Amino acid sequence: MKVLVTGGAGYIGSHTVVLLIEAGYDVVVFDNFCNASIESIRRVEKIVGEEITVIEGDIRNREDLHQVFNAHKIDAVIHFAGLKAVGESVEEPLKYYDNNVNGTAVLCEVMAEYNCKSIVFSSSATVYGDPHTTPITEDFPLSATNPYGRSKLFVEEILRDVYLANNEWKVVLLRYFNPVGAHKSGTIGEDPNGIPNNLMPFITQTAVGKRDVLSVFGDDYDTVDGTGVRDYIHVVDLADGHVKALDKIKNFTKVMTINLGTGKGYSVLEMVKAFEKASGKKVPYQIAPRRAGDIATCFADPSYAKKILDWEATKGIDEMCEDSWKWQRRNPDGF
Ligand code: NAD
Ligand code: UD1
Repeated sequence: MKVLVTGGAGYIGSHTVVLLIEAGYDVVVFDNFCNASIESIRRVEKIVGEEITVIEGDIRNREDLHQVFNAHKIDAVIHFAGLKAVGESVEEPLKYYDNNVNGTAVLCEVMAEYNCKSIVFSSSATVYGDPHTTPITEDFPLSATNPYGRSKLFVEEILRDVYLANNEWKVVLLRYFNPVGAHKSGTIGEDPNGIPNNLMPFITQTAVGKRDVLSVFGDDYDTVDGTGVRDYIHVVDLADGHVKALDKIKNFTKVMTINLGTGKGYSVLEMVKAFEKASGKKVPYQIAPRRAGDIATCFADPSYAKKILDWEATKGIDEMCEDSWKWQRRNPDGF
């Protein structure tokens, strides 16, 4: 089975490519490298011991996609390509709607032209907005507080409509919680541009000396220690969820919506403590005001993923921190 991985050079995509190849899938990577480096693919090639087909192109460009589908008989698409910076999406909403929403619509049109109707899409727990309670199940009400989140909600709706219009489609909407960690080799990992927005890369960059101090955004939430609680999931577990989704897709036609999380929540300060234990490094921090748009607590009920995909997270918080640190320590300046 040949799988097109859009955004396959990025953080989650590169880890998924490793697992797909190890599981015996033929993989074609498609990426415009707006937020990734070809070096990530070179390193994936070292991990798996084989050359990977990479096509540079943009999901919004039909010609680029035709080139891929003419050259390869693609059976399914795992669609990671997208922009993901929440703050930037508030400042430049149209860029996000063009890239994430229009890009996905063009991709689906070209897939249909070539009779490829299987897609696994990277959605996010952000589509639950501020959940009324936790753990979060897939049937919770949906909402968004920023253009990035809305672009994920819109794409979910578009893919549901695509299926309603033609029941031959197979659609898996995977809602990720908070991916962290890196491949155990320490050779691929998360390499954010500029100052990291997310907690784990900020922690690792502080530990490696690139940042002076971590700002903890708020210590007055109704949580175990007042700091925000999230469901951190090892990126390799997340990648494995995609392989399981692809295995499953062979035997059904419908839309499946699945949380990929661990079901456990950790506070910011618990994460700092776990990271210090795993790395032996001190992470200086200061309490700062709450970040606009943040919620107190977010963690998954992952039981549907277990039932439907026979998938569950296997890596705990210590391994997440150890692997994040190994990547950062070996690659202080990223790729
Ligand atoms: P990433 O930025 O590392 O990877 C995205 C990849 O897509 C990059 O390699 C980028 O160059 C490529 N890309 C972007 N726009 C493109 C386009 N128009 N055409 C072709 N390639 C394009 O991000 P990631 O963390 O690996 O996230 C992958 C997907 O998962 C994204 O859709 C993201 O929104 C979603 N997601 C991520 C998180 C997270 O915390 N990392 C959480 C939930 C959902
Ligand atoms: C954020 C995005 C979310 C996106 C997800 C993955 C916001 C409001 N939400 O989620 O839409 O899907 O990233 O990209 O941006 N924290 C600090 N100091 C920091 C960074 C974070 O204290 O320097 C705290 C946050 O307040 C939060 C927790 O750490 O409590 C996790 O933050 P983060 O990694 O940014 O993820 P989310 O906010 O869950």
